Amino acid sequence: MTAGPYSHWQRYLPKGLFGRALLILIVPVFLIQITVALVFIERHLDGVTRQMSETIARELRSFASVVEAQSDPAETGRMVTELSSGIGYEIDFVQQDFIDPQERRPFYLIADRAIIETLQSKTGYPISVDTQRENKVVHAAIQLSNGVLRAALPKNRLTTRNPHFLLVWMMAVSVFLIVVATLFLRNQVRPIRQLAEAAEAFGKGRTAPVFKPSGAEEVRRAALAFTIMRARIERQIAQRTLMLSGVSHDLRTPLTRMRLSLAMMDEQEDVTRLTHDVAEMERMVDGFLAFARGESIETPEPLDLRMMLEGIVEDERAKEREVKFEAPVGGATTLALRPDAVRRCLRNVIENAGKYGAGRIWVTLKAEARQVTVVVEDDGDGVAPEMREEILRPFVRGDVARNQDKGGGSGLGLSIALDVTRAHGGNLILSESAHGGLAVTVNFPR
Ligand SMILES: Nc1ncnc2c1ncn2[C@@H]1O[C@H](COP(=O)(O)OP(=O)(O)OP(=O)(O)O)[C@@H](O)[C@H]1O
Ligand SMILES: [Mg+2]
Repeated sequence: MTAGPYSHWQRYLPKGLFGRALLILIVPVFLIQITVALVFIERHLDGVTRQMSETIARELRSFASVVEAQSDPAETGRMVTELSSGIGYEIDFVQQDFIDPQERRPFYLIADRAIIETLQSKTGYPISVDTQRENKVVHAAIQLSNGVLRAALPKNRLTTRNPHFLLVWMMAVSVFLIVVATLFLRNQVRPIRQLAEAAEAFGKGRTAPVFKPSGAEEVRRAALAFTIMRARIERQIAQRTLMLSGVSHDLRTPLTRMRLSLAMMDEQEDVTRLTHDVAEMERMVDGFLAFARGESIETPEPLDLRMMLEGIVEDERAKEREVKFEAPVGGATTLALRPDAVRRCLRNVIENAGKYGAGRIWVTLKAEARQVTVVVEDDGDGVAPEMREEILRPFVRGDVARNQDKGGGSGLGLSIALDVTRAHGGNLILSESAHGGLAVTVNFPR
């Protein structure tokens, strides 16, 4: 059952409680991740890289000053080789005074930027740094007065581990947490769903599934309140039924006595009128009983509305009425209903169409996704819009019906029909038919 319209932006959000709760959980987790990634990793990585790079820069600076102080080129080469052996990275010396100005530094490489900036500012010599040429090696070239000192610096001496690794870990942990939360959430949402299902079933007059209040305290309370409410409503229905049938039953005996006494009297105008009235009262009492019996005892069972309608339509055709019956071929027209109550409901409506119409009846059965609808139309005079609500009330009959005494009704037919549909969670709507008369739309939810 869909409940209520959703506003524009709500349409793009999950509709269920489960989805929403999950969203409330996931969005902050990812926001935290992004914040951590941006702030912490950037700051941390930047700081560590600058520190490590500075150490190397100082080393390079002292090498540079030693190498620059040496005037003999052959001696310089030997010295550089000696120096390079103990430091864990390669340096060499070339006699040229040109530094390849290679400085590509993509903005997104935080570490590379920090390496380049630190080496440039802390070495104290003109330096060119290339972080891109090789994956794990940074190439630096320092311009000395007598040549160029080149160094191939392993990246792990300049910066710390790739932060993507940390990100992957964070992701993995959050995914794990979300999975755990999903499992717990599902357990919390289940009792709410059960409560909704029970309330829905009760609204449709079906035997609601028995469920044990479980889950969070609020849910338990709602479930308990619902169970109490359901019991109260059931008690009230039972009381009403009992009272109505009691009254009807008690009225019957004096009415029968009155009818018998009247039959003994002489044929007079007054007596005839009284007899007539008593007969009408008896009919009313019968109607009352039917009304009271209405929804109470029967239990819903799978019922094919098409087959039921076919039977009623046949009865109506037997009364010389032209009935056009339309039903979907192979449509899903079976649903859980109380057979006697529903038969009474549909018969009342179709008989009305026969009684108050001009002889032609249209019965249309529609199987929709969420409900099954029966539309009954006739070609009579119909009912004025302002009277439509009125005639749904018990004992209300139209003027025509009273004056022409159309089969002596009690004015309960539509009330019973409405009662039955409501007890199944459906509705009964009166409108004007395209064929001229009244259109009665009865629907039963699935
Ligand atoms: N198809 C219809 N066309 C015109 N008027 C209608 C139609 N159906 C019902 N009515 C009006 O609504 C009134 C109430 O209908 P309802 O079925 O409740 O009672 P009834 O037919 O008079 O008596 P009962 O059905 O109890 O024998 C009728 O008296 C009639 O005036
Ligand atoms: Mg009727």
